[in-house]
Amino acid sequence: MERARRRTMALTGAVTEDDLVAQHSPLMSPLVWDLAHIANQEELWLVREAGGRPGLRPDLDHLYDAFRTPRADRPALPLLGPAEARAYVAEVRSQTLEVLAAADTSPDQQERLLADGFVFGMLAQHEQQHDETMLATHQLRQGPPVLDAPEPPQAPADAAALPPEVLVPGGPFTMGTSTEAWALDNELPAHTVDVPAFWLDTTPVTNGAYLEFIAAGGYRDPAWWTPEGWRHVQEEGLEAPQFWSRDGETWVRRRFGHVEPVPADEPVLHVCWYEADAYARWAGRRLPTESEWEKAARHDPAGGRSRRYPWGDADPGPEHANLGQRHLRPAPAGSYPAGAAPSGARQLIGDVWEWTASDFAPYPGFEAFPYKEYSEVFFGPEYKVLRGGAFGVDEVASRATFRNWDYPIRRQIFAGFRTARDAGPGEGAAAEHTRRPGGEGA
Ligand SMILES: [Fe+2]
Repeated sequence: MERARRRTMALTGAVTEDDLVAQHSPLMSPLVWDLAHIANQEELWLVREAGGRPGLRPDLDHLYDAFRTPRADRPALPLLGPAEARAYVAEVRSQTLEVLAAADTSPDQQERLLADGFVFGMLAQHEQQHDETMLATHQLRQGPPVLDAPEPPQAPADAAALPPEVLVPGGPFTMGTSTEAWALDNELPAHTVDVPAFWLDTTPVTNGAYLEFIAAGGYRDPAWWTPEGWRHVQEEGLEAPQFWSRDGETWVRRRFGHVEPVPADEPVLHVCWYEADAYARWAGRRLPTESEWEKAARHDPAGGRSRRYPWGDADPGPEHANLGQRHLRPAPAGSYPAGAAPSGARQLIGDVWEWTASDFAPYPGFEAFPYKEYSEVFFGPEYKVLRGGAFGVDEVASRATFRNWDYPIRRQIFAGFRTARDAGPGEGAAAEHTRRPGGEGA
């Protein structure tokens, strides 16, 4: 929670007071709304619900209820100003620390919100997710750069020689989790899914590959698009990822206030689901399903079980994945060999969110917890699932079971994709096919 708070303060402290209250895009809240909303959720769930205290400002609930007012209308609300919001954030936190000091967070605690400290984990993830949203607001904001971070490491020596795709063997695996203490309701419960063998891109699709799609007239040929996608491309006049523009013969992009040539070896970013889907069809491939993605990221064929991360059960380190806003861009394709999955696929965690072919749906046995608005109200065909997290995702919300979802037209999120294809007869049909999966965890 302290890590999240440092990030919140850095993201809101980097801009002027005017920028804090301004709306930088109708898709986003003013940053000062996110700031007070973070505190309001903390007050609701930690101070009042878990702590059993009366709370500080119940009168603010309606202003910071994300379901009551759409983002576009939030600037018109009588919101707390920057100084008031910062004071509110600090007051809530001091009560939270008192609740934490007194709480029994042992695993056998009967109150489910407190067992294993779930509600503290939930709020840390919530704040980090708003930090990611605020990072997207920074990207949409016009003006000179205000954020700074070191460049990601250069691609390793073997990156250029990696096979373009890896084989994920067929057979059942354990999807979802019943053992992660801080997993959110939509990741539960663990269940067996039989996934036939398939080929998956070794790395996310790069800008260089995506430029070939653009140069081949991909945006002008309806053959590659679903009917809805084609209508959307026409209506919006899309011809490249968001934040890209032409400078003579070259494509440049705007990234947190910097305008720079599009780097060919970096995973493509700021494409919507329709663009990812069209590229895949143009390439003679398809997007992976959500269960294919999770199998590639978690299943260990040698051990016969699902792990927490592609590299094993250890928490992510800087050698595994580009997470935590450590850098302000994806790392070159082929980076992080220490974070590779058993199949050899790299960068499944971190760098860019990856669009999947799947709609957001509940797992068998789903139960809403702690409230329906966390996930349940979003289930259905209007949302597509994204997996794997991006450079702006914190490790607390980066486990390989974590599910994200958004409308197929959205591009301001830090999303890219990789593609897949079915394996041929006999490919990847390991003896494993007849074995039962060994569950998850150690
Ligand atoms: Fe929220």
